[in-house]
Amino acid sequence: MEPIDLLIGRPSPRLQAAEKLAAASQIILSQPEKSDCALTYGPDHGEDEIREHVATWLSQKYRPSSGPVTRERTIITNGASGGLAAILQKFTDPLYTRRIFLVDPTYFLAAPSFFDAGFGQKMQGIPEDNEGISIEFLQLRLDEEESKHASTEIGVKLPDHEYKKLYKYVLYMVPTLSNPSGKVMSLHHRKVLVELARKFDILLIADDVYDFLAWPTDNNLSHKGLDLPPRLIDLDRQMPGTSEWGNAVSNGSFSKLVAPGLRVGWCEAMPRFIYAISSYGPTSSGGCQSQYTSFLIDHMLVSGILEQHVNDVLIPIYRKRYNALVKAIKTYLYPLGIKISTGVPYEIAVKDEEGNYTQTMLAGGFFLYIEYPTDDTFPEVMDIVRLGKNEYALDIAPGVIFAVQGDPESLKRAEMTYKRGTRLCWAWNEEEVLVDAVQRFAKIIHQAKESIR
Ligand SMILES: Cc1ncc(COP(=O)(O)O)c(C=O)c1O
Repeated sequence: MEPIDLLIGRPSPRLQAAEKLAAASQIILSQPEKSDCALTYGPDHGEDEIREHVATWLSQKYRPSSGPVTRERTIITNGASGGLAAILQKFTDPLYTRRIFLVDPTYFLAAPSFFDAGFGQKMQGIPEDNEGISIEFLQLRLDEEESKHASTEIGVKLPDHEYKKLYKYVLYMVPTLSNPSGKVMSLHHRKVLVELARKFDILLIADDVYDFLAWPTDNNLSHKGLDLPPRLIDLDRQMPGTSEWGNAVSNGSFSKLVAPGLRVGWCEAMPRFIYAISSYGPTSSGGCQSQYTSFLIDHMLVSGILEQHVNDVLIPIYRKRYNALVKAIKTYLYPLGIKISTGVPYEIAVKDEEGNYTQTMLAGGFFLYIEYPTDDTFPEVMDIVRLGKNEYALDIAPGVIFAVQGDPESLKRAEMTYKRGTRLCWAWNEEEVLVDAVQRFAKIIHQAKESIR
């Protein structure tokens, strides 16, 4: 039996744009005026021309109602993970920042960056709800924190030249096509988050890394011309009362659009915020951390190759795999009481070639989440994981890995909810492998049920 990994969340190697990158490298390295810049230390923000191209592309993709994205709002990073580390270094301090909130279930590999920034004792999960995050729960936690600090305000004094802006709170999330749940946050919740962020001095860190891998659930409609949900930064810019630093930052990445090994991405936020990130220590020593790879991306962007790769290669393949996976789950797992957990679907408009709009729901990204039934006849989660590994060569994630580390409440919540389920990814495995995996999954459940009797 061939091993199948259902946990792995990365593009299959054949989808990494190797040939397109080889061609881009050839073009850049054969022109001294390009290669001289691409191979030396770059400007802290990344090349202005590249930022300009990224900003134009973002404007075309998001069509923000508050106006086009400008170069000053963007910085080239070494990927979303690198962006997160830089943001935490520049805008938080474990003595001053009171809490790091993370939506749970959470992207578990973000946690080490918060630990490294000194927040091991300050991380707290906020449960996801059907619209993306429980606003009531967040509000409660904020009120608790505020009343704690009202009587013991220490007022940590920090050197002015180093710390121009620190936030009291951070909220980390993946609002669109979330990792791991696949949910899309509602517009209502997005707006409320911006209001809360302004009121309580929260920095909303949004990993927007799956936004451009979106398609309509209606298979008769094309993924081209689809309206994406406004990002938290778009709303923070659009809603009256925007501050100079802003209360949101969008972390973008080319890992999912071209290849993860490139380690290149971008951040978008208010210009002052972006300027501050550009002085992040590792960037100050040598400039843009992805200078060469940003040139490759730039070539793909300007030539239209990137859009072609995403629109004509990635999305059609991921969409087919997603459809095959959903169909297999409905065929083999639904009869066992397992369900796909979708939350409230996000309605979007898709424009056809004649310019007419049709309403549909948004799907996409890399992941969906399945929930096991809660009755006693259903096997224990760890028995499923063990049987999968030992007898069916199938790697299934125990849902508990998506709890917020260091927060016992989050772990407890996981026990009651998403621990009884798992994340499935269609980016790594081909259609037929996904179907095989789901069939094996069903056999595992049957076998485990037998041993309960
Ligand atoms: C939500 C989320 N953020 C960030 C990353 C990593 O992005 P990058 O490769 O740009 O560091 C991933 C990769 O799986 C992810 O799912």
